[in-house]
Amino acid sequence: MTDLYTRARAAADYLASKTSLKPKLGIILGSGLGDFANSVQNAVAVPYAEIPHFPQSTVEGHSGRMVIGTIAGVPVAVMQGRVHAYEGYAMDEVTFPARVLGLLGITSLIVTNAAGGIRPDFTPGHIIGISDHINLTGTNAALGANEPRFGVTPNSGLRFFDMTTAYTPRLLQLAQAEAATQGWTMSTGVYLAVLGPSYETPAEIRAFRTLGADLVGMSTVHEVIIARHMGMEVLGLSLVTNPAAGVTGEALNHLEVMEYGKHAAGRFSALLTALVPQIAKDSSAA
Ligand code: HPA
Repeated sequence: MTDLYTRARAAADYLASKTSLKPKLGIILGSGLGDFANSVQNAVAVPYAEIPHFPQSTVEGHSGRMVIGTIAGVPVAVMQGRVHAYEGYAMDEVTFPARVLGLLGITSLIVTNAAGGIRPDFTPGHIIGISDHINLTGTNAALGANEPRFGVTPNSGLRFFDMTTAYTPRLLQLAQAEAATQGWTMSTGVYLAVLGPSYETPAEIRAFRTLGADLVGMSTVHEVIIARHMGMEVLGLSLVTNPAAGVTGEALNHLEVMEYGKHAAGRFSALLTALVPQIAKDSSAA
């Protein structure tokens, strides 16, 4: 098989051939948040199955399409659906789409997910800005031979790369300011990633709280690691869909997780729609 870089390049070139737009901003939509892709204008939607080497999601609620178009006039590449390690994909497959976004020219990545609330006040429906993460999936997205050709900015493409500001503080501040403009307070929190697919036990959630985690989920951290390896700036947003295991004593249920995505979709869309032009403006000025 051809090497990872060559495969990612082929996928990025294929996507570039489908549009005259040159998006610099990418958005990965998490569980239940996929509807936002329908608000992209002038869109071409490319099914993952059509993109060379692209992995296909097997989870209900994660339809797989790359939607390239504009939001408030800004070119964007929106991933409607992602694949997860718990589906049995190898690490370089899970993070292949993030690699492709980087090679497509994305320099700012908004990563979204559904998460369980470990903090008792992070109740369902809250949209939380991710300030940092704890990767307890037991693996790392950048595992394997380093590929310096993925380094598209001065400090990227390195074997060992910095994660001190994995979540770009400036983007988080923009998101919080926009939430305030829209009349609500965006709290920030630490996202802890597990492999899944089982939800956590109450004892695990107590342990995670002690470790400093506010949210728990099964995605995002690997994409963020890849984004940092490629020098992209990152905004992470979690939609709290349920109290984490043991917080209320209720059992966890995937259908409820999906339902909450739908409830908060309006607020989520309004936030993203307003943020996209601000991030684009700010990034080109930076
Ligand atoms: N745990 C892990 N992943 C999740 C959860 C949770 O409670 N809710 C949504 N995704």
